[in-house]
Amino acid sequence: MAVKIKTLSGYFHEYQKSIVKTEDFWQQQAEDFYWRKKCDCVLDWNFKEPKIEWFKGGKLNITENIFERQMFIRKDQAAIIWEPNDPKEEGVTLSYSELFYKVKQFANVLLSKGVKKGDRVALYMPMIPELAIAMLACARIGAIHSIIFAGFSSTALADRIIDAQAKVVIASDGGFRGNKTTPIKTIVDEAVGKCDSVETLIIKKRTGDQVLMKEGRDFWWDELCENVSAENEAEVMDAEDPLFILYTSGSTGQPKGVLHTTGGYMVYSSYTFRNVFQYSQGDVYFCSADIGWITGHSYIVYGPLLSGATTLMFEGIPTFPDAGRFWDIVEKHQVNQFYTAPTAIRALMAEGNEFVENKKMKSLKVLGTVGEPINEEAWHWYHDHVGKGRCPIVDTWWQTETGGIMISPIAGVTPTKPSYATLPLPGIHPIIVDAEGKELKGNSVEGNLCIKAPWPGMARTIYGDHERFRQTYFSTYQNLYFTGDGVRRDEDGYYRILGRVDDVINVSGHRMGTAEVENAINEHPRVVESAVVGFPHHIKGQGIFAFAVCNDMDETVTEEGIIQSIKVGVNNIIGPIARPDKILIVSGLPKTRSGKIMRRILRKIAAGDFENFGDTSTLLDPAVVEEIINKSKIH
Ligand code: WTA
Repeated sequence: MAVKIKTLSGYFHEYQKSIVKTEDFWQQQAEDFYWRKKCDCVLDWNFKEPKIEWFKGGKLNITENIFERQMFIRKDQAAIIWEPNDPKEEGVTLSYSELFYKVKQFANVLLSKGVKKGDRVALYMPMIPELAIAMLACARIGAIHSIIFAGFSSTALADRIIDAQAKVVIASDGGFRGNKTTPIKTIVDEAVGKCDSVETLIIKKRTGDQVLMKEGRDFWWDELCENVSAENEAEVMDAEDPLFILYTSGSTGQPKGVLHTTGGYMVYSSYTFRNVFQYSQGDVYFCSADIGWITGHSYIVYGPLLSGATTLMFEGIPTFPDAGRFWDIVEKHQVNQFYTAPTAIRALMAEGNEFVENKKMKSLKVLGTVGEPINEEAWHWYHDHVGKGRCPIVDTWWQTETGGIMISPIAGVTPTKPSYATLPLPGIHPIIVDAEGKELKGNSVEGNLCIKAPWPGMARTIYGDHERFRQTYFSTYQNLYFTGDGVRRDEDGYYRILGRVDDVINVSGHRMGTAEVENAINEHPRVVESAVVGFPHHIKGQGIFAFAVCNDMDETVTEEGIIQSIKVGVNNIIGPIARPDKILIVSGLPKTRSGKIMRRILRKIAAGDFENFGDTSTLLDPAVVEEIINKSKIH
């Protein structure tokens, strides 16, 4: 493996090199890997169409790079350490050779079910080893995996299966989360009932709950694997062949199927993993994300395994059986790098220090955060109480669309500053623009964050809708990738992410489109229209505040009853993560004369700030604002 960055001057040197000679830089990184055929062209691109092609003509399989390439030295090394939900249950450790065996065997199972290169396979699973096995088995045969976080409702699951036209769904009977179980198979049955494309369901037994198995369609994972050979030759993929689809929320409409391809994603996820976390051989690395999100894809599975790391997968939640669970895991498995979300840190901080104080966590070397801005208080608590003042914190900024970390300290190399993602990684060229797209040069500037040139891990398209890809990311500013985030570059040239500047909110590190939540609320029979905004929330970062206009408010209903039923509705349409924290029933929304909702005003009201609304001259009916303010003061 190419050398890691070890010093600050080394970082600046690499960075300079990567910006001046980007293609040479990434070609050099790509040389670490096993290519069936080397590429003809490192990079071909324009942000107009947009067209982004890395390592064109190169042939490879990403699982050959995890397994065959490393098997000689890593055969007996732990690849995955699996920690179950209940600490009393025994965990599982899979060595590289054991994982390889299971991946090849399951790849053969998928082939036997008629799955071919390019077919889409949907995965809706709890955090069990079979989730990683299934995704790698898809990659092995060239099928495109689409993992859907198992907290989504059946409606949301169905939407995603239909969009990708998945042929096979892989799930479990149920899932454990803390002291609850989720009826995964029942949710899948409901969803699949609406999806014509699905031919086969493969179900891994986890909870032992009674589930219905439809003859000819549904099969038990373990039965399918019985007597199946583990001889499997990897499918040869083009560098630009799709690897996976992952749905994420945007500011408008339905979630988008972000598509990542094979060669560039492989190079980028592993390069960033090794450098940001400074992983050394023999270390145990633990990322607490769910594989249903991009963090789990890139930094539980692909990045670590491509780097020959031992990656820990945790099935449960941070507060079960108590708020010390993460630290128990760190102690039990002697974790060296720990990566989590600020919302988890804030939640654990609120539980008090006694859960962290007496844990033996000397093994920890690096702490990471991802998904949302981290406030200074949480940063210091993490640094002082978890890292005992010894461990650098890497505050990593990136997105589903970027495939890997973009702006982040390199652990132990980049001097950190609380709540700053600090400096761009090599190969990343961020620029800050004002609303008109004018570049704001130099330090001490604030504006919208864009990226000037492609990097290997970036998304290539939105599945089935390239025009939407262009519109969303490449049309706001010419020849730039627009992130949707606001940013400040301070006097030292350090980047601080300020949060989304579009209609996307970040709730407990989960991305949520306000339009998506509004659509779900509007399904309620009494709701005429609604507006959803984020508001500051001490644990979640942002909470969801919904203003709903209802009709037929007669004596048969109470406002409280409607509020409850709206919450249930959102739960059913999207999932618990989208359930509004607060709902206010109002008689109208503040609109401009042209009918646009003035969200700026609603955001202020949601934050409990009832003054200085700025320019309200375009407001159609100021009385509406008065009413909303009065009502929200009472509630
Ligand atoms: C936000 C998660 C501040 C940001 C990997 C981005 C962050 C969105 C950070 C992407 C960070 C992510 N500091 N904000 N370190 N990391 N974000 O697609 O608004 O789930 O646009 O990817 O999360 O969320 P996504």
